Amino acid sequence: MTSFTFATAHRIVFGAGRAADLTSIAAEFGSRPFVCTGADPGRFAHLLTGLRDARTWPVAGEPTLDDVRAGVAAARAHGADVMIGLGGGAVMDAAKLIAALVPNDGDLLDYLEVIGAGRPLAATPLPFLAVPTTAGTGSEVTSNGVVTSPEHGVKVSLRASSMLARVALVDPELTLGCPPAVTASSGLDALTQCLEPYVSPFANPLTDGFCVEGLRRAGRSLRRAHAAGDDLDARTDMALCSLLGGLALANAKLGAVHGLAGVIGGLTGAPHGVCCATLLVPASAATIAVLQADDPAHPALQRYAAAGELLSGSAGIEPLLGWLRETVHELGVPSIAELGVRPDDHDRIAEQATKASSTKGNPVALSAQQLSDVLAAAAAA
Ligand SMILES: NC(=O)c1ccc[n+]([C@@H]2O[C@H](COP(=O)([O-])OP(=O)(O)OC[C@H]3O[C@@H](n4cnc5c(N)ncnc54)[C@H](O)[C@@H]3O)[C@@H](O)[C@H]2O)c1
Repeated sequence: MTSFTFATAHRIVFGAGRAADLTSIAAEFGSRPFVCTGADPGRFAHLLTGLRDARTWPVAGEPTLDDVRAGVAAARAHGADVMIGLGGGAVMDAAKLIAALVPNDGDLLDYLEVIGAGRPLAATPLPFLAVPTTAGTGSEVTSNGVVTSPEHGVKVSLRASSMLARVALVDPELTLGCPPAVTASSGLDALTQCLEPYVSPFANPLTDGFCVEGLRRAGRSLRRAHAAGDDLDARTDMALCSLLGGLALANAKLGAVHGLAGVIGGLTGAPHGVCCATLLVPASAATIAVLQADDPAHPALQRYAAAGELLSGSAGIEPLLGWLRETVHELGVPSIAELGVRPDDHDRIAEQATKASSTKGNPVALSAQQLSDVLAAAAAA
């Protein structure tokens, strides 16, 4: 029997040039905007000129606990009543977390999963408007914000359906300036976020549709967007792939690639998209090999084969893995050794990844030894 719950942003606005609507959309929700931007707030300053009484808050990188705490204090001091995240996933997550904490008492750790007390948010977050400038994370339509605890050496989430954006404003033109390395890592993250929910045991008919469409668009446009950053059609496909992946993962979960990537990101500080990109082939190949050996009739194997057709034009598992290998090579993805992961770390990372919430949607639970083998394969690639 088909039975599911589906939750997403209250409104999705998509299209080239639509970022010009930001001022009027923000005015619907408040009069004292707090705007999280990337480290260079000048990059999209033209979008903010119409916003009156706005405070701009540059976010230097993937947010830490202290970054979020400082943002909460600044937003409260400003009297913020609407939160805007204008940047990559790091900026959107920082804004989403600050919006959640501003009206709530206590410290971030009171609410975090895994390293915190996991308390539910008592007060509704500030209205949050998400404007992505990379095509990767889908954070504009997910209900969690990811934060790094350098002290614990992990990345964890604060998650609540009330944290979903009021408006996801997705304008592919904003991604035209992404350099090839960012296009590669964020694009492979977006692709993975369509592949992992597609083979997940939590997939449902809605998420299936999103994944199929996202994979088809990544297949025809990821390499193009990387080779020619000014190709608006390719950028539009990748912005949609990212959005569709976010819609899918928030409702059907992720798998071993993201489980391992989260732990490696927390341990090394390596960018999230790069961690996903470097693990995509070995983690997918390991999951497929376990299914083929233990449960050859498992429906996920047919889905991997269908993904092969969506990406490469040829159905089957070999076309899938072949296309992924070629793409990772063409996009110049570094090895996990280059990210700072040492062979001595493999077992510890694998052990932690078995417990990560991101791993829950893998079609088969991989053991710590199997995950450690994935890391060894990634190091040898
Ligand atoms: N909440 C979620 O659902 C979710 C899902 C996946 C990942 N994440 C989080 O998102 C973060 C990664 O996001 P990301 O991959 O977008 O990377 P990012 O936000 O760290 O951005 C990567 C780099 O690209 C630059 N950049 C961003 N937009 C640009 C543009 N238009 N032109 C030129 N440069 C630009 C940034 O300044 C940065 O240097 C991680 O913290 C990860 O944990 C969150």
